[in-house]
Amino acid sequence: MTTLITWHENDPDQPLFHSSNRDDIRVELDLHGVRYEHHVPVTIDLSASSEDILQAHGELVDAISTDENYVTVDIARLHPVDSDEWRSTALAARQKFLNEHTHDDDEVRYFVDGSGIFYLHIGQKVHAVLCTAGDLLDVPANTTHWFDMGSQPDFVAIRFFKVDDGWIGNFTGNDIASRFPDFDTISQSVAASA
Ligand SMILES: [Fe+2]
Repeated sequence: MTTLITWHENDPDQPLFHSSNRDDIRVELDLHGVRYEHHVPVTIDLSASSEDILQAHGELVDAISTDENYVTVDIARLHPVDSDEWRSTALAARQKFLNEHTHDDDEVRYFVDGSGIFYLHIGQKVHAVLCTAGDLLDVPANTTHWFDMGSQPDFVAIRFFKVDDGWIGNFTGNDIASRFPDFDTISQSVAASA
């Protein structure tokens, strides 16, 4: 279930805002210049190739790309497999963007399936956006943030890009991410309260 939790940057124990209402989430994120939209998920076979998944979302991809002048799209996906090789791939993928960073380009993700949490550190607040199927989130260029896909990454997301190499992470060195509830903690708590 899509959820937004906001805390003061120094108080990860006391949420200032907590909602799973998509309209409220959109309005709240818009106040901070962050685009959030929900689209009715397209029914697809998750074993389909990335090319077929992109093709199935052609109309949506065109609409989003034209709005913001995104020039390239691709698919990022991870599905749990019971093997040591997969666990080490998943761990490396998770660690990559688990520390606070920025990008020169917008970081735009449309969740076809599964989930992940973007933590946006804007001003003195941290906004955790648990994205699920049908969610589009646009993290503006140079926004400090981190991303947690959890200990068992399971998602298919369409990525949109404006510039080559714009998605390289510029790490801030701030260890703030380690002080906030992670994907596993938040997703389990949201599932328990549903
Ligand atoms: Fe990022």
